[in-house]
Amino acid sequence: MSTHCDLLITNVNLATMQKDSHQAYGAIYDGCLAVKEGKILFAGKAEEQDFAPKNAIDGNHRWLTPGLIDCHTHLVYGGNRAQEFEKRLQGVSYEEISKQGGGINSTVTATRAASEQALLDSATKRARRLMLEGVTTIEVKSGYGLDLNTELRMLDVTKQLEHALPVNVVSTFLGAHTVPPEYKDASDDYVSLICDKIMPAVAAQGIASFVDVFCEGIGFSPAQSEKIFQAAARNDLKIKAHVEQLSDLKGAALAAKYHAVSVDHLEYLNPEDILALSAANTVAVMLPGAFYFLNEKQLPPINALREAGVPMAVATDLNPGSSPLASLLTAMNMACTLFKLTPEEALAGATRHGAQALALDNKGQLAAGFDADFCLWDIEHPAELSYGINLVKPDDVWIGGEHVHL
Ligand code: NIG
Ligand code: FE
Repeated sequence: MSTHCDLLITNVNLATMQKDSHQAYGAIYDGCLAVKEGKILFAGKAEEQDFAPKNAIDGNHRWLTPGLIDCHTHLVYGGNRAQEFEKRLQGVSYEEISKQGGGINSTVTATRAASEQALLDSATKRARRLMLEGVTTIEVKSGYGLDLNTELRMLDVTKQLEHALPVNVVSTFLGAHTVPPEYKDASDDYVSLICDKIMPAVAAQGIASFVDVFCEGIGFSPAQSEKIFQAAARNDLKIKAHVEQLSDLKGAALAAKYHAVSVDHLEYLNPEDILALSAANTVAVMLPGAFYFLNEKQLPPINALREAGVPMAVATDLNPGSSPLASLLTAMNMACTLFKLTPEEALAGATRHGAQALALDNKGQLAAGFDADFCLWDIEHPAELSYGINLVKPDDVWIGGEHVHL
């Protein structure tokens, strides 16, 4: 009796990225993958399988991986910061530029002035660039509006992205990105505005899954961040946090106390705070693009995170100020070259652990029951995905079992 399915790919090597596999990359050689109703029906050895597919593809010994997941971006924004880049090259630091009223706030000015259509058009272009490399799920943060209307507009644009492109989008409310100019000497009042007004409006509209905060000297203090976490819990929104990027404020341990799904950046994380992350099952998101672009020197405590078994995700942090990087494969390369992740860890970071950083239980692995988001690559080994820079692109991509045309 043969089993009906919608799509069958045969003659293919699978980098399943399954957690419990004893093979590197969860590899299955000369396997096949079957899809039914948007889900993976079977991923494994071809023997003893008898499928009756509506559509069959010969994989020709190429590799299938889960669709890539970029779990940290700020890709909706107006303007750009090329002139700030020039300034930094003349020796002015990112923090100094921010203190002078530039930095995130200059993008806030440009974003407030941009129409919804202009924001959608530019965000669509950036998302498409990610997708050309096999990204099938993108997290997008607000945080360049910093007032009720513009934050809602950004989240609305993020929602529209999912209709403009065949891509899964997860959206995050980052009202606590920086203190806007109108609250310059009243940051606590701005935190109250976020907690009492903007966040409840975001929650009521159901347009964000996560709340994020930039806990940093040029962002929000731990006490202010804690208020944001408490408000997130009241509004039933999951928590993420930008922590320990430029200094150690103990933001990671604080976020873990509030069951943060992920903590991101972590260059200045003290190894003694890692226990709190493993206890809370919090994912550590590595953002080597920002490290590279800001020419940082302090490395995140990768060895200690690895030893503690904390899942490490890798993302682009695509944003105009600290990481104008629209390439998750390049972020994976940087995670290896700069942070010394292995290519297998980098791929897990952009698949299984990226999914975990977004609380998406059905994505990031090739296994029965998972969403049928995957990529077919003309490579000889999955390490090639981290090895090159602009050297490979997927031959084909499927999302929810549908072939993607870009
Ligand atoms: O993840 N750290 C805060 N947010 C961004 C930077 C945003 C910007 O500079 O516009 C980041 O690095
Ligand atoms: Fe960020």
